[in-house]
Parts: sequence; structure tokens; C-alpha cells
Amino acid sequence: MSDTRGTTKRISAEEIERQKQFCAEIRKMNEGRPGGPPLAYTQTYGCQQNEADSERIRGYLEQMGFGFTTDAEQARIIVINTCAIREHAEQRVFGNVGALVHGKRRHPEQIICLCGCMAQQPRVAQKIRESYRHVDLVFGPHVLWKFPEMIHTLLTRRGRMFLTPDEPGSIAEGIPVVRQDKVKAWVSIMYGCNNFCSYCIVPYVRGRERSRQPEDILSEVEQLVNEGYKDITLLGQNVNSYGRDLDEPTDFATLLEAVNAIPGDFLIRFMTSHPKDATQKLFETMARCKKVAPVLHLPFQAGNDRILRVMNRRHTREQYLEKIRALKALIPDITLTSDIIVGFPGESTEEFEDTLKVLEEVRFDALFTFIFSPRPGTPAAEMADPMPREEKLKNFNRLTALQDAISEEKHAAYIGKTVRCLMDGLSDDARYDLTARTPGNRLVRVTGERSALGQFRDVKITGANKWSLFGELI
Ligand code: 5AD
Ligand code: SF4
Repeated sequence: MSDTRGTTKRISAEEIERQKQFCAEIRKMNEGRPGGPPLAYTQTYGCQQNEADSERIRGYLEQMGFGFTTDAEQARIIVINTCAIREHAEQRVFGNVGALVHGKRRHPEQIICLCGCMAQQPRVAQKIRESYRHVDLVFGPHVLWKFPEMIHTLLTRRGRMFLTPDEPGSIAEGIPVVRQDKVKAWVSIMYGCNNFCSYCIVPYVRGRERSRQPEDILSEVEQLVNEGYKDITLLGQNVNSYGRDLDEPTDFATLLEAVNAIPGDFLIRFMTSHPKDATQKLFETMARCKKVAPVLHLPFQAGNDRILRVMNRRHTREQYLEKIRALKALIPDITLTSDIIVGFPGESTEEFEDTLKVLEEVRFDALFTFIFSPRPGTPAAEMADPMPREEKLKNFNRLTALQDAISEEKHAAYIGKTVRCLMDGLSDDARYDLTARTPGNRLVRVTGERSALGQFRDVKITGANKWSLFGELI
């Protein structure tokens, strides 16, 4: 392991204070306006890290004196936080951002911002510069902490701004947040990724791995628990390498143990883990810590060793399976989920079948399955990819059919059991009152009193299908 100690750049408290002063100035400009506070509209694509970033953008917007709207037409400021992981996500963003041109014609004072992982790619920033001239501000994840300053500049001067510096990234503490949910919360523990899996754009757009100080994470979780949050997910592209870059290096298992020691009735989840760094120490910590949910999302991507090598995953299929066996020995009822890519360049159908074998052995509770999408700038985008899309699709359908059957069987085994679940939402399906999650994060549709929202309650499971469970409050 290379020595990364103390390499992380930290944005000073004075800098964040300066940003809050920009918020205060904008707030003053906003206050005198007739018709109440101006409104902001935010839209988020992609992973939970992006959701967490949008919570900080909304935190800043609130300090600037903006209210929020779900109607882009009503908004003075529009922020689109984007994802670059697959081409499909990018196309959706281009379509939706393109459509904003009409609203802007009607409301020329509107400020349209595009941020997140797409924005960080030079090819995207260039396209926005040339063909999406109604977009005023483009900024990458590394400069999110400067959002108030950027908005202040736009409000006080004319012109467009592009801020997408190519840097290893930094850590900024003390940015305000407006959270979407009252029961579940995301807490970023680290940013960036050093793994450079050959298909993945993330290390190019999110920079190098850098960890927050444990005390900052612990005080954020403590505060969330005091506010009544019951389900806390620790976030990072690769949480298993948490702490290596700190002046006083630590590891993820140690952090998990410390979060578990915070008083209160709450569940701890985390994602994402990389198999090569998932250690026996982590598994033992999970087994010992009662607040850590018995669930692990451990992406394996492909079941064939040659493909894993070309993907630069740095583990073999047997090493992966060995870790799963060790984990199941410690936590027999562990819920397991994974990410899989079908149709990686050069993957034959025979090699793909090794992925099916992993499914049969592990019997995951659920999977996130993707067809390979070439990301310009990554090594895999340059690799020969002779398999026709129809054949990839056929393999993809075989994969989902097998997983559907496994999920259905695993869900059926819950019927008749009583499970302590967290009531995490009100149901939008008239036949049920609440949505809930098992400790392993399986979705349960529940009948019972809606006032149970936000509580841990026993649920009698009465039915199941491949997607979810059904039950009644006891
Ligand atoms: N094509 C398809 N899927 C991808 N993923 C990452 N990059 C790509 C790509 N280029 C998937 C991986 C990862 C998940 C977040 O997205 O499975 O674990
Ligand atoms: Fe992408 Fe691999 Fe890093 Fe995950 S571990 S973000 S798949 S490069």
C-alpha cells in the first residue's frame, strides 16, 4: 500500500465562513423582493453521494434565502446535479437540460446550473458551452463548497461561468444541509476513488480517495440521532479504504465500531464496499456491532477471472466467494446485494456464464445489473467490443431471470415470520399504509396505523413477490 498519509487538502473554516457571508449577501438581495422569497429547483441524478451533495446545495440555497419548488418554471435558480456513470444517464440529462431553454425564454432572469460528475468531464463542459447556451453555470464536484460565491458572481455580473478544475479534490466541513428525509440520512465519510476499474469514470471525475476526520463524522451522526434519524448510511465510493490518508491513519472497521457506540436506537448501513478491501476484521465488527444492519452491498461485477483482470478489479472470483463464505459463517442471515456488468468488452457468453454460477452459489437477495456502457476516457472504452447488443441483451435477460427467481424464493421464506422493521415512509399504494425496511433493507408494504412512521415496529410478513414483502403491523 502506498503511503497516502496527510495528503488530503482541507478547506479552511475561514473559507467556508466566507462562503456563508456570500449567502448572507444574497439573502439580503432576496429579502426585499415583492412576492416573497425567490424559489430554487434542484434535480439529482445518480448515486447517494449525489443526493448527499444536493442536500448541501440546498443547504446553501436555504441560507441564501431561497424557498424550494418542484416546478422548474417557477424557479429563479435551477440546479441539475448529474451522473456520468453510464451513457443513458447522460442522455437523459442532455434531454432535460435542453428542454429548460423554453422556460428560460419566458423568464430570462433564471439562472440554470449544471453540476456533478457529468459537468466535470471536459467533453461535456465543451458541449454545454457551445450548444446549451441557456446554461449559466457549470461546476464540478471539487468546487461545490464555493457554490455561494459562484451564484453571487452571477447575480452581480453578466456572463456564464465554467468551474471544473482537474484536481485530486479536497474536504470541506461545515457546509449547511437541507435533508430530504426525516427518518433516513446519508453521511459521507470519504470522497473519491483510487481504484480505476477500467470501465469506470468515477476516479476521473471525483478525484482521489480522501477521508473525513472521524470526529467530524461522529459528531454529525450524533446530531442526526439526536434529531431522531433512525437509519444512517455511511457513504463513500469505497468505504473499505476509509482512513488511510488521515494524519493518524485508521480503518473503516474502527470507525464503524465508534459509530455503533453512539447512544440511541438507530441502524447503521454503509456503501459501497470493494471486495479486495473487505476484511475479516470488518466482518467481525459487523457481527459484533448490534446497530450495524446485517446487510452488505459487495459488487463483484463479473464472475470470470479473465474479465475481472481486464476490469482491473484486483480480486478473483474465488477470493470473492471466500469472503462471502467467511461473512456468512459469522452472520448466517446476512442480506447480500451486488453490482454486475454484462457485456464487458470481449466477454464471451461462456465467460458470462461464470457470473451466473456466482449467483447460484451466493444467492444474493437483490442485484443491480448493468449493460456495459463505454465511458470516453476510460481504458475499457478503447477495447474491442465485438459482441452484438442483442446477444448482450440476451445474457442480461438470463441474468435478471435467474436473480428474479432467487429473489422470489428468498422473499417467500419471510412469509409467516415477524420482523422488526423501520417504518420509513407513507405508502403511495392505497392498499397499504406504510412502507418499511427490514434490517437487511428489503422493502415491506405494511398495513397499520400511519402514525407509526419513523418507528421500529414488529411486522408480521404475510406475502411476498420478487421485489418486495407485504405485512401487517403487530
Ligand atoms: N458501464 C456499465 N456499468 C457501470 N458501472 C460503472 N461503470 C459502468 C459502465 N461504464 C456500474 C458498476 C458499479 C455501479 C455503480 O455502476 O457495476 O458498481
Ligand atoms: Fe468505479 Fe471501481 Fe471506484 Fe467503484 S471501485 S467507483 S467501480 S473505479
